[in-house]
Amino acid sequence: MVLRRKKPLHETAGSGPLLKLENLVKIYDTGAIKVLGLKKINLTVDRGEFVAIMGHSGSGKSTLMNILGCLDRPTLGHYYLDGVDVAEMTPDELSDIRNRKIGFVFQSFNLISRTSALKNVELPMTYARVPKAKRVERAHMLLERVGLGARQDHMPNELSGGQRQRVAIARALANEPPLILADEPTGNLDTASSIEIMELFRQLHKEGATVVVVTHEEDIAAFADRVIRFSDGQVQSDTLNTHHPGGGPDDRVEDMLKVEDMLKVEDILKEEAEDAD
Ligand SMILES: Nc1ncnc2c1ncn2[C@@H]1O[C@H](COP(=O)(O)OP(=O)(O)OP(=O)(O)O)[C@@H](O)[C@H]1O
Ligand SMILES: [Mg+2]
Repeated sequence: MVLRRKKPLHETAGSGPLLKLENLVKIYDTGAIKVLGLKKINLTVDRGEFVAIMGHSGSGKSTLMNILGCLDRPTLGHYYLDGVDVAEMTPDELSDIRNRKIGFVFQSFNLISRTSALKNVELPMTYARVPKAKRVERAHMLLERVGLGARQDHMPNELSGGQRQRVAIARALANEPPLILADEPTGNLDTASSIEIMELFRQLHKEGATVVVVTHEEDIAAFADRVIRFSDGQVQSDTLNTHHPGGGPDDRVEDMLKVEDMLKVEDILKEEAEDAD
């Protein structure tokens, strides 16, 4: 079963870019030393973009994602989310934004242990005060969507890495956020699982979500339409991926996969197509 959205994901309140960073600086003050995490970043991301963030370890990717996800605040400069300066939001407004507008996916899944897949997916809806029956129904639909309907009562430790990440994505989608942020979502996964996860992001992007994914891998970044490379806390390059005809992600998927993996992906795509009917 495929979830139908009441309205497209990109329909959000403001006009102009969904994300706008203006001279944004992040300084980590550890007491003895100050670390410059981000140095005067200027960046905009429009609604409906699919962006990959790349760069060597320590270049500031997670620092950026934490700020974009309102998990951390800039030291200097401005971050406008949907036209609103995040610095001017109250803590309550911020947690509301995090819950309703942003779906965050982490490298290490961050599921709650000893809590079923279903309950993990329900959680953001619990915060949003969605009634129990509706929550359960929607959590089940989301798990179906990521191919885990039959696993809804499993605990995280009873799931594979790829399955855990799919639960985490279902959880990120719980409140239909217009923005999906994923910090190395495939960092702990094998090639086949990584592709399943990226296919999911690609589908969400097609449905109108704005998706920003951090990755170390060129093959994963190839799924995105735009690649921003960071170096030493600064934007080093910002380029558009040339997709299609011929050179699209489908071809890259084939390049990356062994035959047996390909069959698995084909099954998934077939199921998706049947579901979509
Ligand atoms: N909580 C923190 N306290 C102090 N310094 C930090 C903190 N978090 C990050 N840094 C520093 O900020 C810089 C950027 O770190 P960040 O985690 O954003 O890198 P990254 O690009 O995500 O790296 P990786 O690819 O290894 O995940 C690094 O020099 C790092 O040491
Ligand atoms: Mg990081």
